[in-house]
Amino acid sequence: MTEIHTHIVYGVDDGAQTLEDAEAMMDMACSQGVKRIICTSHATPAVEPFPMQTYEEHLEEERAYIREKKYTLELASGSEILWYPSVPRLLAEGKIPTLNGTRYVLVEFYPAESYEKIVEAALHLCVEGFLPIFAHVERYATLRKKDRLRELKERYGVIAQMNALTVIQGLHAKRLFDDKWPLRMLESGQIDVVASDAHNTDTRCCRMKLAYDELASFFGAEAAESLCVYLPNQIWNGAYIE
Ligand SMILES: [Fe+2]
Repeated sequence: MTEIHTHIVYGVDDGAQTLEDAEAMMDMACSQGVKRIICTSHATPAVEPFPMQTYEEHLEEERAYIREKKYTLELASGSEILWYPSVPRLLAEGKIPTLNGTRYVLVEFYPAESYEKIVEAALHLCVEGFLPIFAHVERYATLRKKDRLRELKERYGVIAQMNALTVIQGLHAKRLFDDKWPLRMLESGQIDVVASDAHNTDTRCCRMKLAYDELASFFGAEAAESLCVYLPNQIWNGAYIE
C-alpha cells in the first residue's frame, strides 16, 4: 500500500516527536503492508513558515533508519496544508512541499469552514495548476449537504481522502448507525483515497491492513486496491487522475 497522509517526520508537528517515535511508526507501517509513505507534516501558513530545513533533515534521518533495517519502504516529502489564501503562492515558491514533488497538494480546513471558502480553495489551487486533494473529507460539516462533494470533484477535480480510522469505525466496529455519510460516500464512489493520517503508534496509528481488509470485504478487492494502492500510487507518481 501507499500512504499519502501521515505525520511521521519527527519534531515538526503533532505527529512523531522523536526519532524513536518515527522509527516505531515506520516499523508499524511495514507490518501493515505499507511500502510507500508521503510524509505530510502540518503546514499552517497563516501562523508560521513551514520548517523546511528541519523537516528535510529529519526525513533524511528516517531514510537512514530504513536503510539500516533494510525495509522495503520509501519516504517522500509532502505536507498537509491548512488552507489560507497565500497557499498557491507559497507552493509556487517552493516554501511548502507538494506531494512527492508533484502538482498534488493535500489541503485541510477547519471543521466548520464555510462551503464558499472551500470552493475558493479548490478554485485557486486549480487556477495555479495544482491538483487539490482534500484531507479527511468526512470532517467538514458543509460537505455533507447534498451533492457538494460531487460538485467539487466534477468542477475542480478535487480528490477526496478519507481516514482509515473512519473506515474501520464504520465497517469493522459497525458504528455507521451513528454516521452513515462515510458509508454512503464510499458506496457511491466519491472517496478516492484512504490513508491513515497516522500521528503515533497508539491512538492515531497506521491500521491500513484492517482498513484494506474491511474495504475488500464490503466493496470488493478491486475497490480496496483502488483506494489504498492504485490511486495513491498515481498520486505518488504525479499521474493525472480523471
Ligand atoms: Fe493529518
